[in-house]
Amino acid sequence: MKTVLVTPSHDAEALARLHASCFAESWSTEWIGRLLAQPGVFACLAEGNDGGFVLVRAAGGEAEILTLAVTPAARRRGIGSALIAAACGRAQEIGARAMFLEVGQTNEPAQALYKRLGFREVGRRRGYYNKPGRSNEEALVFCVELPLPRWET
Ligand SMILES: CC(C)(COP(=O)(O)OP(=O)(O)OC[C@H]1O[C@@H](n2cnc3c(N)ncnc32)[C@H](O)[C@@H]1OP(=O)(O)O)[C@@H](O)C(=O)NCCC(=O)NCCS
Repeated sequence: MKTVLVTPSHDAEALARLHASCFAESWSTEWIGRLLAQPGVFACLAEGNDGGFVLVRAAGGEAEILTLAVTPAARRRGIGSALIAAACGRAQEIGARAMFLEVGQTNEPAQALYKRLGFREVGRRRGYYNKPGRSNEEALVFCVELPLPRWET
């Protein structure tokens, strides 16, 4: 599975649609466009534009996954893993030595994916998801040093 890198804001609408198919609290086109316009922010999109995407911010030798979404119909085909691998590769190219992310403590699919790729828990954030129904959910902070240790093409 190939991925393509995108940065211009005209992709924000497609990314917002993908995001809405994966999250109850979806991000608007405007919000995603604003993120894409920030320095160091880039997206990797699954080939075909309808499978999923990852949005990353890289700055000061570190990078952070802002969101990762694979549409329900496209899951368990390696797309999420390929997107993370592409994002880590790109982040390293532009100077990042480590990739961080936050994941909900009940989000077992995402945690399984990240751990399989070599990410490890390095901290916790209480009250990170300050939303109805999720107010008690902690965010786990995961990190991996780059290059990604467990990725074979
Ligand atoms: C988490 C998510 C991105 C995974 O995408 P994906 O394309 O299905 O992931 P992959 O196919 O690359 O899966 C790689 C491995 O992760 C683990 N994994 C993925 N989904 C899993 C699930 N539902 N249950 C258990 N393990 C899972 C498995 O080890 C899997 O390998 P396998 O299929 O050979 O068993 C996708 O489920 C998603 O978009 N979820 C909703 C949004 C979300 O939670 N984003 C992350 C926020 S931090």
